[in-house]
Amino acid sequence: AAIKKYQFNVVVKHVSRLCHAKPIVTINGKFPGPTIYAREGDRVIINVTNYAQYNMSIHWHGIKQLRNGWADGPAYITQCPIKSGSSYNYDFNITGQRGTLWWHAHILWLRATVHGAIVIMPKHGVPYPFPQPDQEAKLILGEWWNEDVEVVETTGSKLGLPPNISDAHTINGKPGPLFPCSDKHTYALEVEHGKTYLLRIINAALNDELFFAIAGHNITVVEIDAVYCKPFTTDAILITPGQTTNVLLHANQAPGRYFMGARPFMDAPIIVDNKTAIAILQYKGVPTTVLPLLPNLPKPNDTTFALNYAQKLKSLNAPQYPAKVPLTIDRHLFYTIGLGINPCATCLNGTKLIASLNNITFVMPKIGLLQAHYFNIKNVFRLDFPDKPKTTFNFTGAPLTANLGTSQGTRLSKLAFNTTVELVLQDTSLLSVESHPFHLHGYNFFVVGQGIGNFDANTDPAKFNLFDPPERNTVGVPTGGWTAIRFRADNPGVWFMHCHLEVHTTWGLKMAFVVENGDGPEQSMLPPPKDLPPC
Ligand code: C2O
Repeated sequence: AAIKKYQFNVVVKHVSRLCHAKPIVTINGKFPGPTIYAREGDRVIINVTNYAQYNMSIHWHGIKQLRNGWADGPAYITQCPIKSGSSYNYDFNITGQRGTLWWHAHILWLRATVHGAIVIMPKHGVPYPFPQPDQEAKLILGEWWNEDVEVVETTGSKLGLPPNISDAHTINGKPGPLFPCSDKHTYALEVEHGKTYLLRIINAALNDELFFAIAGHNITVVEIDAVYCKPFTTDAILITPGQTTNVLLHANQAPGRYFMGARPFMDAPIIVDNKTAIAILQYKGVPTTVLPLLPNLPKPNDTTFALNYAQKLKSLNAPQYPAKVPLTIDRHLFYTIGLGINPCATCLNGTKLIASLNNITFVMPKIGLLQAHYFNIKNVFRLDFPDKPKTTFNFTGAPLTANLGTSQGTRLSKLAFNTTVELVLQDTSLLSVESHPFHLHGYNFFVVGQGIGNFDANTDPAKFNLFDPPERNTVGVPTGGWTAIRFRADNPGVWFMHCHLEVHTTWGLKMAFVVENGDGPEQSMLPPPKDLPPC
């Protein structure tokens, strides 16, 4: 195993898109940011030095950080921010993982521009469990606001209203030719006829689940969230913020120019956003005067596509890559996901939009929860997050106004070391049903079941896939439906769980687990590094 060192300087850079120039926060002046390359088993040390005026904190999304939450990165959860003028070394091992992950700022809305890919190659001499590609490329899908993203964030939350939607979607930071002033801000991938490409697709958008397709070509999905899956061929993929998807592309069509497109899956029809980001698949030798073909993307509200697509995802579950699904469960958790309204004296209508799990809106602490846990600092959080909602109601039926409001608190759930957990995430129609991409830090989990309507504890578990369910770190809870996940709590520390739609996280759709140490040092948290940012 090697040690890979990276220097990440947080610097402001002026960038122009859509006929506007504005300063954005970047790493090393790059947008999207630099790629981290490593191999399974490597140790990675990234020195983050903050030269910007904002506080910074970076999360290595999907890296398990075994016993090492100190390097996980969510601000006020596992560390205090890296202040302007300071630095911190994120130092971690990549154990038992290979594939595509990504990193992003985990503070304010800065991940809009502070993000990049993590490419983990298999160990030396270990091939991919699918046909070896001739070449590889990264496609980072994102969003662009003409306004400063911090202004977008704070205006929305001060007024108690949703924030403005983005002005463009982007592929590798570029919106493409359907947007004004964007002809030269169009990403092009040059391919040679007859060759195979591994495309590493990342959804780095703040608030949009995205469909992605390439005109005239099918693609084969081979890996999700850095776990190999049973390969399947499709004309389009659905990818939520936080997720990654590796696909094989055979450049076997008539040499030409083809558009690759990404546009939102808008399942909650309150907001309409059907802007399509475009990049170009350019066959070598084809003149750039040839007009490209448009891709066939699913309709913005195509929930059927979304459900069918989720059904196709299965773990590879080969002898080398077994799916270790917990078969017996120690703790059954049931969390309702709600959007609602709380009173707010300073807001526009005297109310503000909030979000909750089991009707609890999470309140961010002032110091890192991991420190509070490790050093036993009192009165920072409570360990009484309820295993199930206070009241049972028709979750996806007519909303009860009594359930619209929430209580607030920094309430966590404690898990004994090695507990097997089943968590059912149930969407509710309190304010509106909407799909929510849930991300758990520190773990992968198995998605054993999904359905529409209310989860039925008597009949639904019998239909769970306990053989080859997809293993991942971020999963969509379908609109007006539920998702059941299972994991073994074998990574001690404090681990954040939240909706990866930044607007919902801001509204409080988040909580954290405290996983206790086991017996002996090998099952216990590592001590904090010396340069951990002070609170
Ligand atoms: Cu990718 Cu807590 O986030």
